[in-house]
Amino acid sequence: MNLQFNDRSVTVAIVGCGGFVGYHLLNAVLCRTKWRVFGVDLDFYRIQDKLNNERCEFLCGDLADPAVVERIAKYPVVVNLAAICTPSRYMAEAAAVIRSNYDHPAALAEACAKSGSWLIHFSTSEIYGRTADDSGLLDEDSTPVVLGPVAASRWSYATAKLLTERYMAGLSGLKWTVVRPFNFVGPYMDFMPGVDGEGIPRVLANFSSALVRGEPMKLVNGGVARRCFTSVYDAVDFMFALFAAGSGRQLNMAEAGGTSEFTDSPAYSQAFNVGNPDNELTIAELAQRMRKIYASIKGVAVESVPVPVEVSGEAYYGVGYDDSLRRLPSVGKAERMLGFRAATPIDECLRDSLTWFVEHYFVDGAVASDEDAAASFSKDATASSGKDATASSGKNCVAG
Ligand code: UGA
Repeated sequence: MNLQFNDRSVTVAIVGCGGFVGYHLLNAVLCRTKWRVFGVDLDFYRIQDKLNNERCEFLCGDLADPAVVERIAKYPVVVNLAAICTPSRYMAEAAAVIRSNYDHPAALAEACAKSGSWLIHFSTSEIYGRTADDSGLLDEDSTPVVLGPVAASRWSYATAKLLTERYMAGLSGLKWTVVRPFNFVGPYMDFMPGVDGEGIPRVLANFSSALVRGEPMKLVNGGVARRCFTSVYDAVDFMFALFAAGSGRQLNMAEAGGTSEFTDSPAYSQAFNVGNPDNELTIAELAQRMRKIYASIKGVAVESVPVPVEVSGEAYYGVGYDDSLRRLPSVGKAERMLGFRAATPIDECLRDSLTWFVEHYFVDGAVASDEDAAASFSKDATASSGKDATASSGKNCVAG
């Protein structure tokens, strides 16, 4: 076993280290292991406090650049989180979405196949496609996939992600694992429109923005679609279960330029759902829960918080929007093979996320400006640097 958490010679490459999941994974790797990190992103907004960390090296670049791909693939473990993953962009920017979610990860997979690195690729629960409202558990190895018609460009993203999965599985010599996230939520998710991003973020950030602005949350097509919301801290715990299971190979060879030597690992050549089937809600129920939690955070009557309104998918997102009506993950495979099961209940997920959102974006009684939000990221980091850096639970783990 060479992937010991206390082994200082291990370096993990995290592509997309500045994003929502990247922020939490980077923090946990620094906190829970002695490893080094090679982090790649175009935006380091969320991780300003890590830029001078002596165990980190950062590269501003993306997978469109072959030189960046080659550098990443030198590391023995590569986690690829980079993606355009907000549905509002799947219609108007379908070609860019496909390039970012197929061409670029395919190039990385080819480089990892050559170097012998273990590639952990973040795919999506959206590859299960246009699921109906009576669809049952989505199983990694037996559920058939039905995507919508080509005119419904919503499916550009899922098509590209699915092709990447198939390409990885078909590449000779590649050590790969695919992760399919089911609606991860938590602090640092997405952005607030008009403050630190433009357009429509995913539902949790969008509803949080509406609540903070005192505006009604918008229920697309009546809010009847269902999702299983999963704490990002559970997602990070999944990654540690995966790292532990992936230890069946020589991990120090790629950097040293030596010969590869593999033993088999249960984590290789597998796709895993990462989700929490106990946290299933319709989007209309999500809005009502968030309304109540927001009222309790602010200490106001729930009646004073605007009631949600309905809007059509096409009016809201544009022509070509379509939806999955239910996404219920089967989680038995991760439990059986990795000993992992997500455990954070829905109200705790929502309270954590919303509390952070309110503190981060509501400054001196008003919605924050872009500068306020950026300053608040550094303030979060300063405030947290005094906390226990050896804690083992993802949630309490804060690396300075
Ligand atoms: C998105 C991505 O496309 C997936 O790849 C990703 O795995 C998933 O998020 C995720 O976070 O795991 P989706 O669940 O459809 O998929 O994304 P959201 O934008 O969060 O939408 C969830 C539901 O809420 C949809 O039915 C949508 O129509 C609805 N919605 C969204 C609203 O009713 N109001 C809003 O303001 C935003």
